[in-house]
Amino acid sequence: VETKAFPIRNAAGEVISAIETMNDITERHALEEERLKTQKLESIGILAGGIAHDFNNLLQGVFGSISMARLKWEDTAQAREMLGLAEQAIEQAVNLTTQLLTFSRGGKPVKRRATLRPLVERAVRFALSGSAVDCRHEFAEGLPQEEMDEGQMGQVIQNMVLNAVQAMPQGGTVVIRGRRVRSPGAGLPHILSTGDHVALEISDQGNGIAAADLPRIFDPYFSTKAKGSGLGLAVSYSIVRNHDGMIDVQSRPGQGSTFTIYLPAAGPGSPAAAPAPAVLPPGHAARSRILVMDDEAMIRTVTARMFNSLGHEAVCVAHGEAAVEAYRAARVDGRSFHLVILDLTIKGGMGGLETIRRLRELDPGVRAVVSSGYSDDDTCATYRDQGFLAFLKKPYQLAELKALLASLL
Ligand SMILES: Nc1ncnc2c1ncn2[C@@H]1O[C@H](COP(=O)(O)OP(=O)(O)OP(=O)(O)O)[C@@H](O)[C@H]1O
Ligand SMILES: [Mg+2]
Repeated sequence: VETKAFPIRNAAGEVISAIETMNDITERHALEEERLKTQKLESIGILAGGIAHDFNNLLQGVFGSISMARLKWEDTAQAREMLGLAEQAIEQAVNLTTQLLTFSRGGKPVKRRATLRPLVERAVRFALSGSAVDCRHEFAEGLPQEEMDEGQMGQVIQNMVLNAVQAMPQGGTVVIRGRRVRSPGAGLPHILSTGDHVALEISDQGNGIAAADLPRIFDPYFSTKAKGSGLGLAVSYSIVRNHDGMIDVQSRPGQGSTFTIYLPAAGPGSPAAAPAPAVLPPGHAARSRILVMDDEAMIRTVTARMFNSLGHEAVCVAHGEAAVEAYRAARVDGRSFHLVILDLTIKGGMGGLETIRRLRELDPGVRAVVSSGYSDDDTCATYRDQGFLAFLKKPYQLAELKALLASLL
């Protein structure tokens, strides 16, 4: 219910009684909830439609190329070219899933202490090439470092600089300012926690954003550009929120826009640069025995073929129990595995983390790699503490598998 009360006063102005009303607002509430649900569904609809559209195009590329390769298999050169095209389409699909994963828990940043400036310079070099736009940097002296995932933040800055360049087709100057915002103090948006922040401003004098579009620019697949995917800002927003920061926008149609990224400054105790990879004892025979655990049959088949083509022997299992048993049996037979590749999550079975624990009980010297399509917990950042030698991100290509083996065997 919603209640309202009105005082009734006498001639002297004293309250002598009151009128009180009570309204049943159940229906209004229900309507409001319904409206929110509709809105959510609408956003999901746009997102799903966008993803389906992008993937269908890429799948068309894969299908088309593979069927052409099958048709032309006697002409090796042509078949090879077609398969190359299929590979390119798949690479684009991987880029897309990587972007989409930043919206989910899987996009958890792997943070290290780093500075923004080199990321800005790299992004600017990329975004400005071939355009009539130039760039001015104004970085305050002695900016603190931040704890960030450099790959992800690089992507954010690149998206924003690219938007600024695209907003000025006739040319102009992108101005990038870096400054420190001390808290508590003026200029720090309320939703941020207290503490020092670095503010990175990216300004253009381009066409600006219409007031009606402003609330929607961070929606996935919202774009006003003929060839825009509309993912740039949506992805950037999630990344920055995962860094406990925020993005602020000011824009005037016809005059330009300023995007400001706020990121918390790194405290004294945060981890420094990436640790050097563990040095491994050299030398196994050229032909190694590798145990592959994955619950997806297709991945087992393809991965085994890939290892075979690299001259190794692969044994595949579908879950952790089978992996432990195969490892134990091989040791008893004196044919121990040189390397184990464990999928992080196994549907309805023992996954990578528990399996490595059991394998280490069997053999403290087990050499294992964890593999996953996303990093939904911290394993991707802390695999070494769990006893793994490396993280193999799915999907992987032959060249990546080869490089991994070269570094481990
Ligand atoms: N600097 C800017 N100036 C003017 N409009 C902008 C600017 N940045 C973003 N926008 C508006 O916000 C929309 C969404 O931006 P976003 O980067 O998410 O997608 P996009 O640039 O259209 O496509 P892409 O996925 O290729 O980046 C743009 O289409 C544009 O209308
Ligand atoms: Mg963009």
